[in-house]
This record gives sequence, C-alpha cells and structure tokens, in this order.
Amino acid sequence: MSEGPRGQLPPPLSQPLPRIIEGPRVTLRSHDVGAASTLGDLVMSNLDHLSILPFAEREPLTLDERRAMIEEWELTRLAGRDCVYGIWRDDQLIGSCGLHRRLPDPAALEIGYWIDVAHEGQGFVRESVLLLTETAFTFEEIDVAVICFDVQNDRSRAVATSCGFQTVRTVEMAQEFRTSAASGREDVTEMRRAAFDVAWRDETG
Ligand SMILES: CC(C)(COP(=O)(O)OP(=O)(O)OC[C@H]1O[C@@H](n2cnc3c(N)ncnc32)[C@H](O)[C@@H]1OP(=O)(O)O)[C@@H](O)C(=O)NCCC(=O)NCCS
Repeated sequence: MSEGPRGQLPPPLSQPLPRIIEGPRVTLRSHDVGAASTLGDLVMSNLDHLSILPFAEREPLTLDERRAMIEEWELTRLAGRDCVYGIWRDDQLIGSCGLHRRLPDPAALEIGYWIDVAHEGQGFVRESVLLLTETAFTFEEIDVAVICFDVQNDRSRAVATSCGFQTVRTVEMAQEFRTSAASGREDVTEMRRAAFDVAWRDETG
C-alpha cells in the first residue's frame, strides 16, 4: 500500500481485525462477496445522501467491480490494515462502517461510517462506533480511536459527541477525502483508551 497524503502509513496491526462484531442491536460483519449486490442496492438507493463521501463519486460500480473491491477489502483485513464492515440489523444490511489503519500515528485507528437514510437517527451508528472503538482497544498497540468529519456534517458530529469523542483540532481535508459536497475542512475527534467507558453496553441495554 502506498503512502497517502496524511503521511507515512503505520505498521500493520499485530493480527487481523475480527470478521464479526456482535452488538446489542446490530452485528458488524466484514463485507462478503456473496452480499455484493445487496451492498450495491443499498449504496445506489442512498447516493444523494452519501454525496459527501468520496466513494460515492465512483458509483455506480458494476457487480464485478464491487466483488473485486470486497475481495480487496478482505486482503487488506488479512494484512492487518483496514476492515470494512456491513452494519446488519437482524438479516437486513442497513449501513457500512470500518476501522482504518491510515493515520501516521501507530497507536491510532480511524473509524468511518454511513447508514441508510431510512435508518438514520435511531442510534445504530452510535452503537457501531462504540463496537468499533471497543474492538480497536482489544489491540495492545492501539491507544486512540479517531473520527474525522466535515465541519458542516452535524449528524456525524452528533455521533462522535454522543460516543464521547473529543474534538482535538480542525484541519484542511486531504485531497483524497474531498468531494464537491465537502467544505474542505474537517474536525478531528478522538477517544483515548483511558477515557473509554467499557461498560457502555449496560447503558444501551
Ligand atoms: C452521519 C450519519 C452516519 C449519522 O447517522 P445517524 O443514524 O444519525 O446516527 P445515530 O442515530 O446512531 O446517532 C446520532 C443520533 O442518534 C441519537 N441516538 C443514540 N442512541 C439512540 C437510540 N437508541 N434511539 C434513538 N436515537 C439515538 C444520538 O444521541 C444522536 O442524536 P442527536 O442527533 O440528537 O445528537 C448519517 O447521517 C449518514 O450516513 N450520513 C451520510 C454519510 C456521512 O456523512 N457519513 C459520515 C462521514 S464522517
């Protein structure tokens, strides 16, 4: 993997990220080629809603392209880098999220997410972020989970805030993350290992 504009990539994780993460209301499953068309349908029915995200500008993908992308994601997961998860509510795919080893800090993992517009505002992304943060801290080498979002993305800020992430700086957005719908500046928020509420599941019941 090449070096990105955010700087030198850190070393791989000590082991691959897990394929499945079970939560109280949602299950995160690393995307599977068998569900490529399901993912494609969800992306296509949410394209306007996702216009702030760079990948939306590369849509529509063909089914073969989406399968190839998912296969590439699995190789990346096995290499101890990113993992991109489907957010499943019972047997329905309702969104996508991930843990990404793309910040220069070797103690950091970045979290990304989106959800089907019909499932917004019900706390499913909040739960997914808490699951991803908890998973990040099962790796001894990780001390901080990071969420970055466009300064105008109030819904994304609400997710980070409600999970207890703290804003640490506002920066120019790297070129690869800019879209025509983006402002060009992003807030960087962090959750340190020591500040993470390991009993969060008790609150969500
Ligand atoms: C940003 C985005 C993922 C937020 O999704 P969401 O469904 O609003 O997120 P959640 O519902 O999990 O959490 C946010 C809100 O739900 C509330 N919430 C938490 N648990 C809840 C529950 N059990 N029931 C109802 N609401 C709940 C949170 O407190 C928060 O509320 P607030 O907006 O009043 O502060 C979504 O708008 C999206 O996909 N946007 C397009 C893509 C995008 O911008 N991705 C992020 C890029 S950085």
